[in-house]
Amino acid sequence: MDSSQHKNLVIFASGAGSNARAIINYFRETNVQIALIITNKPTAGVLQIASEESIPVCIYHKEHNNWDQVIAKITEVKPSLIVLAGYLLKIPSNLINQYPRKIINIHPALLPAYGGKGMFGDNVHNAVIAAGEKQSGITIHIVDEHYDTGDTILQATCTAKGEDAGTLAQKIHKLEHYYFPRSIEFLLNNGC
Ligand code: GRF
Repeated sequence: MDSSQHKNLVIFASGAGSNARAIINYFRETNVQIALIITNKPTAGVLQIASEESIPVCIYHKEHNNWDQVIAKITEVKPSLIVLAGYLLKIPSNLINQYPRKIINIHPALLPAYGGKGMFGDNVHNAVIAAGEKQSGITIHIVDEHYDTGDTILQATCTAKGEDAGTLAQKIHKLEHYYFPRSIEFLLNNGC
């Protein structure tokens, strides 16, 4: 890192948490701290990781509609960046307005193709394979009020030919684990 200033990250994650783990590992013993992990799934893999790493967590209950409490916790840690790493719900507009161009997401395909509501996990990979695409990849982008439509920060590709959903997912995860932490580092040092 080229700055000695301490920076906080907030991570939203509701899946297995492999991207969250890659980010935590990348920034270990740097001036970047994972200050808060937020999930809407009490069974999310990220909770185990957070407990191993002693990172504070906040579980968001969709049905209790407690966004105000979540936003208060985020505000408290003064994040430089908010990172969605496998989080499927919409981010409310008041949070987006509070952190303009400071909330980013990773999508497991080359947007604008194969994005939008319901396009997550194997749904994405199966659609890519069914369409006979030669390539797939990842898109890291700014979060706006719609699914998967914000400005692109980075895309990286891999071949999709001959893959099934499982093997394509593995290739995509490799790209994600390499490029997501490095994109975050770039944005922290240079802005979005
Ligand atoms: C990733 O493939 C990411 O692109 C998508 O959700 C998946 C999360 O995987 N948004 P993991 O939970 O980080 O393993």
